[in-house]
Amino acid sequence: MTANPLFGRDVISMTDFDRDDVKAVFKMTERCKKEGKSSALNQKIIASCFFEPSTRTRFSFEAAAFRLGAEVLGFGNEQMLSVKKGESLHDTVRMLDQYADLMVIRHPLEGSARLAAEVAEIPVINAGDGANQHPTQALTDVFTIQECQGRLDGLAIALVGDLKYGRTIHSLVELCALFDIRLYLVSPEALTLTDAFCDRLKKRSVRFSFHQTIEEVISSVDILYLTRIQRERFLKCSFISDPEELVLRPELLKKARSHLKILHPLPRLAELPREIDETPFACYFDQARNGLFVRQALLTMILNETVT
Ligand code: NCD
Repeated sequence: MTANPLFGRDVISMTDFDRDDVKAVFKMTERCKKEGKSSALNQKIIASCFFEPSTRTRFSFEAAAFRLGAEVLGFGNEQMLSVKKGESLHDTVRMLDQYADLMVIRHPLEGSARLAAEVAEIPVINAGDGANQHPTQALTDVFTIQECQGRLDGLAIALVGDLKYGRTIHSLVELCALFDIRLYLVSPEALTLTDAFCDRLKKRSVRFSFHQTIEEVISSVDILYLTRIQRERFLKCSFISDPEELVLRPELLKKARSHLKILHPLPRLAELPREIDETPFACYFDQARNGLFVRQALLTMILNETVT
């Protein structure tokens, strides 16, 4: 039996993962997908703390916990908490630390999940901290990419949309950098990947280039990963109009490789028209479903030293 590299760990940023960790999570994900429900988390309590709106991430984490036999306590709306009375995140986390075996947290502040992990004795999973990171989404994305393309090394992936404020993008580029993946970064200039991320990609010898339209890249890639513009994260004074060149018009797909797959973390706006759903390129609903199995795998591995 090989050691479980996830046992007892926090999952805060994709930079905390190496290739072996990722392989181990994917192996367990495949197993969870095949085996369905289990009693791996009997008697465990998961705190599900969502200080920001969520559909897929919250429900898939909670469904994953239920499928493993755990109990879930938590909230999807901070209006219900003593935070409303002025309680700090620090104190809220200290309380949940007493009541649960693992905490899943989504919060609008960058660094909030890291802070929670420092305060809490129990493992903490970051379900999105502001525009910073969303590691469980990136694991879901890359698991889906491997599943639909049969490999990761040697692929070309276009990341499209809001590369500046999109936390799924930030985690995904870090995860792609562990593999031999060529990146096409497609965004308006004002929403391009920040220098800090680009520098890290360069240091790790990742090949990448900048583009402003889907049309420029569609015939060169195996995966088109679309994202919405994160308007809620802009400063009030900044103005960026909806970029038409980042809308995947169905006719653009005529130029696509036959095995191209389209991913999107969802929710989608105008960038991904519903006509695309019926094409063989659409993979985003499978991706959303895989989120359940990836989260089941993470919960199982973090809370069980020996997973046989
Ligand atoms: C994303 C998020 O919350 O960052 N959604 C998700 O978790 N699947 C993407 C988004 O909100 O655009």
